Amino acid sequence: MDRIRIVGGKHLTGTIPISGAKNATLPLMIASLLTDETLVLENVPRLADVALLQRILGNHGVDVMVGGKRPGDGEYDGQTLHISAKRIVDTTAPYDLVSRMRASFWVVAPLLARMGQAKVSLPGGCAIGTRPVDLLLMSLRALGAEIEIDGGYVLARAPHGLKGGEVVFPKVTVGGTHTALMAATLARGTTVIENAAREPEIVDVADCLIKMGAKISGAGTSRIEIEGVSRLDGARHRVLPDRIETGTYAMAVAMAGGDVMLAGAKPELLQSALDVLVEAGAEIAATNEGIRIARNGAGIAPVEVVTAPFPGFPTDLQAQLMALMTRAKGTSHITETIFENRFMHVQELARFGAHIKLDGETATIEGVDRLKGAPVMATDLRASVSLVIAALAAEGETFVNRVYHLDRGFERLEAKLNACGAAIERLSA
Ligand code: UD1
Repeated sequence: MDRIRIVGGKHLTGTIPISGAKNATLPLMIASLLTDETLVLENVPRLADVALLQRILGNHGVDVMVGGKRPGDGEYDGQTLHISAKRIVDTTAPYDLVSRMRASFWVVAPLLARMGQAKVSLPGGCAIGTRPVDLLLMSLRALGAEIEIDGGYVLARAPHGLKGGEVVFPKVTVGGTHTALMAATLARGTTVIENAAREPEIVDVADCLIKMGAKISGAGTSRIEIEGVSRLDGARHRVLPDRIETGTYAMAVAMAGGDVMLAGAKPELLQSALDVLVEAGAEIAATNEGIRIARNGAGIAPVEVVTAPFPGFPTDLQAQLMALMTRAKGTSHITETIFENRFMHVQELARFGAHIKLDGETATIEGVDRLKGAPVMATDLRASVSLVIAALAAEGETFVNRVYHLDRGFERLEAKLNACGAAIERLSA
């Protein structure tokens, strides 16, 4: 199994290109199931999760063609996928594929909407809490689907098609909103989603669906209205930049010190995280090229942060912020309100000499003067990158084990950091 070796203490200077957003790419690829025409997605990141979803879609009969490089393409430009679900040959998404990535469960919505049936294994994904799918199923029932659970599979049926309805989410769910949105595009009549997730990736998917001919208004607010249409067309869509990758590298620079341009990043996608970084002492400037982040000299100031659905501070940056706060000049508190078990990085950060106490959903982090490199283990996608951030500022050598978690969500992390002066290398087993 691959490991990553990092020698800490180097400042970061230069440019880091930001890739397309994983969390938009996955539902966009899944939306291809809604049409028999070709959906062209540009700026798709090269990630293990994208490759896995390609396999899952392939199992339904979807052809995915990866476009070659064009003249003038840079080293980090995203890929172009031509996705065609002309004929869906199988409406079953099997356990061995779905159990490896939670978002693949979302195929249930377009399969049901277009084919009137779907059989999808209950999901897996990062072990960061129970992560049920009750709200996703509730939204499909609200559109007239019959749902049964049998042998670890969800059997969803709508033999006469889905019917528009009212979906009221008792809590904000990104996956629930994607599910309801996709299902409603092909339902007869009007659907209203209340308490919808407002994440930028929801807006990106809605924009793409609109290009495909869907009638959607209100994406990006907590009330989305969809008027069903009888069919959707192909379209061409460019995936928005990854705000979690952006925030992660911003925290890495704040941690290691230096001055880096996050090229292609959009500040409005992560304003709450940028505000926290400014409070912590980083300098941030938005330019035409992207976001420039610098921390020179001064220490890191402690912060008080509570994770929340967008536009609040994202749970997907919680672990990275905690790594940064391990070296703050004072005591920070970080409260995780989205996932109950998302603190597995705490014991790994302790190996660097970090002082963190957990009390329910709140972590108290007492900043220390120095961290020391250590062997650590990646436990989930975002937690694993928090260990990289800690290692960048730790004295000596760190080995991060189980790096396949990183490859699920960060495109060529070592290359991007090395280009800015970090000392990080992948050791193949
Ligand atoms: C998505 C993101 C993930 C991010 C999360 C929250 C993708 C591919 N993944 O995950 O990176 O951390 O949003 O921003 O976009 N819940 C239920 N019942 C349900 C569904 C969810 O109780 O049926 C709960 C979850 O356990 C969690 C909360 O709702 O406590 C939010 O989860 P949700 O927004 O659905 O997360 P995902 O869509 O899985």
